Amino acid sequence: MKTSHSYPFFGPEGYDGLDVLLQELAPTKTFLLVDSNTVNCLSVFVPKLAQLDAEFEVLEVPPGEESKSLEVAANLWSVLLEYGADRNSLIINVGGGVICDLGAFIASTYKRGISFINVPTSLLAMVDASVGGKNGINFEGLKNQLGSFTQPNFVLVDPDFLVTLPQKEWESGHAEMLKHALLSGERWLELLALEPESLALHDIEQSIAFKAEIVREDFKENGKRKMLNLGHTTGHAWESFSAASGKPCTHGAAVIQGLHVALILSGLPEEQSALAQRYPWQLVEEEALQPLWERQLQDKKNANGEVRYVLLARFGAPVWDVEITLERWTQAVLALNSAL
Ligand SMILES: NC(=O)c1ccc[n+]([C@@H]2O[C@H](COP(=O)([O-])OP(=O)(O)OC[C@H]3O[C@@H](n4cnc5c(N)ncnc54)[C@H](O)[C@@H]3O)[C@@H](O)[C@H]2O)c1
Repeated sequence: MKTSHSYPFFGPEGYDGLDVLLQELAPTKTFLLVDSNTVNCLSVFVPKLAQLDAEFEVLEVPPGEESKSLEVAANLWSVLLEYGADRNSLIINVGGGVICDLGAFIASTYKRGISFINVPTSLLAMVDASVGGKNGINFEGLKNQLGSFTQPNFVLVDPDFLVTLPQKEWESGHAEMLKHALLSGERWLELLALEPESLALHDIEQSIAFKAEIVREDFKENGKRKMLNLGHTTGHAWESFSAASGKPCTHGAAVIQGLHVALILSGLPEEQSALAQRYPWQLVEEEALQPLWERQLQDKKNANGEVRYVLLARFGAPVWDVEITLERWTQAVLALNSAL
């Protein structure tokens, strides 16, 4: 049985821990999966690992959500075959949520599953995508339709990577931290005021700890873990609708839209207006209402043609599987539009 540490290791201790694991795994071949931005993170990452096989191969894909596709995954599987990757090969995902989701997906399916390590380089991937063992790719225009629950062998969080992260990507990760704050009821206003310069390792650790505890209690999302989808029902619909309309937005920007809707549906106007001060609601055109609703109906979390939401019974007290009708959802969206 190979060692698996699903809980992240941080900074210098993380590199030491990863070196120990690399020695233990002794992979036959090591692949570093990156996109064409995060390839630059390798100059920080590689020299810190004494045990990394010097003969590693870099697999580079284009940046962005489009790389979470069957086509890119199939191409990567082919490359692994060409290199003769076997069951004892290793994939290290060095990148944002796209690289972590894609790399974990190909690793968990290649030859029924090979070892993989997540090295998140975006804030969103640090506090969310790299932790929790979910992976996936998009299919038929819908988010994360193909994927699995498979824990990485190791997660290394090094906040030094954030130095090169663009502001809008920082805000995208901030959105997931805010979601955790709304769910836990802890440090909401304090976290809402965070800026890249004031973000501390402790803030990242706390956000991860919150998610990791929920995942520990409900890995396969049969109950409690569903709360982590707060803001994601409308959010995923907004993300795929925006991309299909030729105006792609970040995952976090879409989650912010979803959080606005969820806070209105939860009857929490104070929290919603605090959120709007920092991240304003983006107008939803009337002709977008129907396509957005249809996308929510296709969300994996919905059953029997109803849209199920995560809401807050009160601040810090999530409830899930709340059925929301088209009328209630439309009212919430129109109320947000009219407050602009
Ligand atoms: N599996 C999960 O539990 C989970 C949870 C949340 C989100 N996700 C997924 O994560 C994805 C979003 O993740 P993301 O926001 O990290 O997107 P991303 O991976 O596309 O990264 C955003 C952008 O930032 C760039 N980037 C990343 N790190 C950088 C760095 N250090 N310096 C400079 N540029 C850098 C990337 O190249 C990309 O252009 C979505 O596909 C979402 O579905 C998965």
